[in-house]
Amino acid sequence: MHYDTVLILDFGSQYTQLIGKVIRSFNVYCEIHPYHLTETRINQINPKAIILSGSPFSTNQEDAPQPDSSIWEMNIPILGICYGMQLIVSHFRGKVQHQTKREYGQAILQIKKSHPLLEGLALEEKVWMSHGDTISELPPEFIVLASTSSAPYAVIAHKNLPIFGLQFHPEVVHTPNGKTILQNFVLKVAKCSANWTPSNFIEESIKRIREQVGNQKVILGISGGVDSSVTAALLYKSIGDNLIPVFVDNGCMRYKEAERVQEAFSAIENFKINFVDASELFLSRLAGVSDPERKRKIIGSTFIEVFEKEAAKYENVGFLAQGTLYPDVIESVSFRGPSAKIKSHHNVGGLPEKMGLKLIEPLRELFKDEVRAVGKELGLPESLINRHPFPGPGLAVRIIGAVDKEKVQKLQLIDEIFIQELHNWNLYNQTWQAFAILLPIQSVGVMGDERTYENVCALRAVNSQDGMTAEATEFPWNFLKYVANRIINEVKGINRVVYDLSSKPPATIEWE
Ligand code: XMP
Repeated sequence: MHYDTVLILDFGSQYTQLIGKVIRSFNVYCEIHPYHLTETRINQINPKAIILSGSPFSTNQEDAPQPDSSIWEMNIPILGICYGMQLIVSHFRGKVQHQTKREYGQAILQIKKSHPLLEGLALEEKVWMSHGDTISELPPEFIVLASTSSAPYAVIAHKNLPIFGLQFHPEVVHTPNGKTILQNFVLKVAKCSANWTPSNFIEESIKRIREQVGNQKVILGISGGVDSSVTAALLYKSIGDNLIPVFVDNGCMRYKEAERVQEAFSAIENFKINFVDASELFLSRLAGVSDPERKRKIIGSTFIEVFEKEAAKYENVGFLAQGTLYPDVIESVSFRGPSAKIKSHHNVGGLPEKMGLKLIEPLRELFKDEVRAVGKELGLPESLINRHPFPGPGLAVRIIGAVDKEKVQKLQLIDEIFIQELHNWNLYNQTWQAFAILLPIQSVGVMGDERTYENVCALRAVNSQDGMTAEATEFPWNFLKYVANRIINEVKGINRVVYDLSSKPPATIEWE
């Protein structure tokens, strides 16, 4: 399969991944690379078009990041967005000026000249501006296609070459028809073929996986989440029973998790999961430990131990599979939020070398939405595909303080009520992640005529794109009251429910 590739050079804009996701949504393959990609690598990628991202830098700075000069000689379409446009202007010896006041927010774009790049747009369109520099002198080879009141050069085009610049950000939702411009660029101007589809990806992956694995076995930890499930389904389709899917119950899973995972996979005929109930081992190691980082470390190392022991039961295991996604492998120069370093996220890094296994990561080219589309194509149920993210250490980081079986069971019931009601009120897909936290705080209440002194639990639900930043979801008040009421009535030992309103940053999504 040959995919026309759009190369996105990242100059550090916070929106670079978004450009990638939008391009992929047209079934066009794209890759994101740091701006300093070498000529040799660019030639290997053999792009059909190049997009230059925005940047926190100014092209007038001495150390302003520059792409390899070979891109200007390739004679392929180039689209510069914001800083990318200013790079184009500087390259063609126009002038970029620093504005004393940054322009940030919505503006009205007025189209001055029709062009295939702007096909399908109205004469006036809302666009989103976020820039400190602006073009003060357009190079003579360029013409203006559209302007805003404060940016006369909002869309520019080279007179003879397929080179374009946009002062605004077409990739963000605040530019409602920005996608149309990007689509015109990749489909109409660059004439990329739209063949990057889930079924083509599956077909090609199967071939690739079979070649890579031969008749060796592949072991995979199934977590009940979307990524490991789709990895499992794809590997099973490729190598059948040579896949060994292992589900480790760490005693901190959601309500009836093992049964639900089993049920979800019943859609795939003959697919057998190896369930390992290690709950007692995990809970005994967690006993009395209240430091969040220690809890995470204990769960991580115990997982590796259990998993290694399980793997040792099989012969001819050559690979460990992981559900790594594209955002984890992009070598990004983007500003990323602080959270990655704040908690030691549980993963199985280091495990393949330790076990003498090679790593296989069949989803490493995909964004999350694409993983979902592939999962759907492979026959996994919607309920699994649209599941909220769930942290590796599970409920252990949602029980503040020391963890024990009783607290886990209590939190499972609370969480289950919250999630059930989200489904019942058709709100589950309106929020990115929702869960409950069991607090080690007791508060006074009254039930019947009796004074109570019981635990408080918190509910948390956030809207987010990628978990790096998040805002509390605004649920209808009636819904929250209904859920709180059910929890207090049905879960013994809880007499108070609170809703967490904090954003990330400065809070994180999980409490520990
Ligand atoms: P925080 O709490 O850092 O969480 O704002 C961001 C996202 O990551 C999830 N999370 C984890 N996922 N292993 C995971 O696989 C972990 O150890 C882990 N800790 C947090 C969290 O649920 C949220 O979606």
